[in-house]
Amino acid sequence: MQVVASKTRKGKFLHEAGILVLPVFRALLAQVLAFALSYLLYFLDKRLFGGLLPPFLLLGFHATCSVLISVLLRLSWWWWLIQFIFPFAVVASLVFQLPPGLSLAIFVLMVLLFWSTYRTQVPYFPSKSSLLPCILEQLPQRESLRFIDIGSGFGGVSISLSKSRSSQCFYGVELAPFPWLVSWLRARFSGGMVQFYLRDYMDLDFSGFDVVFAYLSPAAMPDLWEKLHSEMRPGSLFMSYEFTVPGVEADLIINSNANDPALYVWRI
Ligand SMILES: C[S@@+](CC[C@H](N)C(=O)[O-])C[C@H]1O[C@@H](n2cnc3c(N)ncnc32)[C@H](O)[C@@H]1O
Repeated sequence: MQVVASKTRKGKFLHEAGILVLPVFRALLAQVLAFALSYLLYFLDKRLFGGLLPPFLLLGFHATCSVLISVLLRLSWWWWLIQFIFPFAVVASLVFQLPPGLSLAIFVLMVLLFWSTYRTQVPYFPSKSSLLPCILEQLPQRESLRFIDIGSGFGGVSISLSKSRSSQCFYGVELAPFPWLVSWLRARFSGGMVQFYLRDYMDLDFSGFDVVFAYLSPAAMPDLWEKLHSEMRPGSLFMSYEFTVPGVEADLIINSNANDPALYVWRI
């Protein structure tokens, strides 16, 4: 573990208007445009060469176009993956004729897992276990300290920390019902002082917490910082894994190892 520096990169805001502010609509636009280009290729191939191109090549062309258009539309890298896989998944479900019940179950699980991602622009992905010693090192030893993971996913961060600090209180707040339910059940059996709430962290009052931890996305940081700054008590800590606050220098940047994301720490 290494404290690297106290400077953060300056971030940039995307100023876009209308419906295309939401990445989900840009992703949809990319698929529609990629489909139009693939259809044009299919049409020209059929007209000029009598249909030489094999279907998998057309599918690959569609997937590649959707990724390239996603890059042009400034979608994040994880959208590129989704965009590439999506056409193959659609064709596979048609070819293998998945039972409608299975498709519905997968769809419902995805909805319960990703819930408001289209609005918050923060999908679920877990932090690495190498993060925990970095948080513990910065966590004050004070008894009854109150720590909250905003966007707590399946609850791993707060539950693990509560096992190392039995006299401190750990919380999590999560918007998506499925990960929240799992974290709530895990808390019942964990034995530590840990609780999880099914809520939007934007509706929470941060003044009751000594440490707020977040692993969200670049899109969430400017509004979050404004809220933290106006609500948290002086001397309390804000920690963000991987994502910095645009234009605000972190007091500490901690790297657990060279290949893992950094933990940024601000003293309010
Ligand atoms: C990247 S995951 C991090 C999970 C966990 N904190 C960890 O470190 O493993 C971000 C989580 O934040 C949740 N989330 C996004 N916006 C939220 C909001 N406004 N209120 C509560 N949870 C939110 C998402 O549903 C997702 O589960």
